[in-house]
Amino acid sequence: MSELKNDLLLKALKGETVSRPPVWMMRQAGRYLPDYIKLREKYDFFTRVETPELACEITLQPVDQVGVDAAIIFSDILVIPQAMGMKVLMEEGKGPLLPNVIKTKADIEALITTEVEERLGYVMAALSLTKKELNGRVPLIGFAGAPWTLLCYMIEGKGSKTFDKAKQFCFTQPELAHALLQKITDVTISYLKAQVNAGADMVQVFDSWSGMLSPADFKLFAQPYLIQIADAVSKHAPVILFPKGSWYALSDLSKSSAAGLGLDWSVTPQLARQMTNNSITLQGNFDPSKLLAPIKQIKKEVTEMIDAFGTQRYIANLGHGILPNVPVDHARAFVDAVKEYGDKSKV
Ligand code: CP3
Repeated sequence: MSELKNDLLLKALKGETVSRPPVWMMRQAGRYLPDYIKLREKYDFFTRVETPELACEITLQPVDQVGVDAAIIFSDILVIPQAMGMKVLMEEGKGPLLPNVIKTKADIEALITTEVEERLGYVMAALSLTKKELNGRVPLIGFAGAPWTLLCYMIEGKGSKTFDKAKQFCFTQPELAHALLQKITDVTISYLKAQVNAGADMVQVFDSWSGMLSPADFKLFAQPYLIQIADAVSKHAPVILFPKGSWYALSDLSKSSAAGLGLDWSVTPQLARQMTNNSITLQGNFDPSKLLAPIKQIKKEVTEMIDAFGTQRYIANLGHGILPNVPVDHARAFVDAVKEYGDKSKV
């Protein structure tokens, strides 16, 4: 394996001194990039995900075109429910659809939990190929959905403003919910370890819908599983947990074996640092919609964000995925502003 020429991200995660904070963007490989849209016209979503050459090409686009300090493998969190035997459709422009949702104990028992590495062999092939093509330019990030967020899709069958069916399932049949969450956790641990073996330098766990839960319910249905994953996978590579909307859990999660915590824009850098006692690397938390503001304003607010977080133990990122209607030069301005902050602090 070639040595990394840009190891800012890994250094920041280890708490080592960096010349400037590393920067990448959640969902950086995607629909705001014209070259991605061209590929989308030719191949459907799961063809793009399951063909290592296409996944690799898409993963490299933001590295080449926007200048981020890390690549995140092009895939989706819903490959896990798929590997567990559920049908997952991606309706272009509409989002995911799982036509046969989990309803009963028998449905949970029927889920497949073995041979994840083989069943998701195409992800490992995409990682190995991308690692080779990157040739050490920047680190490669692997990822998975958190158990709670995957349960949301497996029970609800699609996106939702409230995920009330998923919650109803947890609140009325907690034993079944925990059985399902544990199965997803076990599979996710194997999957993330396999990603590291295949070339991922670190992994992120996306709990996109954890903020739907009250602090007490987060402690029941989300936190224990996030911690299990962090404990098991951290032995192999640094883990970032991103519990979107769950700023209330920062203190507890900072005591886990995770190397970093992702933040959305609902929390101030000051509060996040205070709650985590300055003991863990923080990542975030620029409002993705702010990338629609004029470039001058983006640059000013990025500078203010870094001033507030500090340059150490910090990874500049958005507070959630980049939006499809962001102009590429605005995405680039975000990345450049972080890089220029570094230049400024050197003089
Ligand atoms: O970050 C990256 O650049 C890597 C690629 C990536 C995708 N999905 C590709 C994708 C990652 C990290 C994901 C994670 C993901 N998928 C999450 C967690 C992160 C988040 O945004 O909260 C979630 C909740 C999903 C499920 C999912 N996949 C939804 C809800 C949708 C449709 C709506 C949307 O956001 O686009 C997808 C489709 C999807 N996954 C697209 C991409 C680029 C868009 C589909 C297309 O290009 O046609």
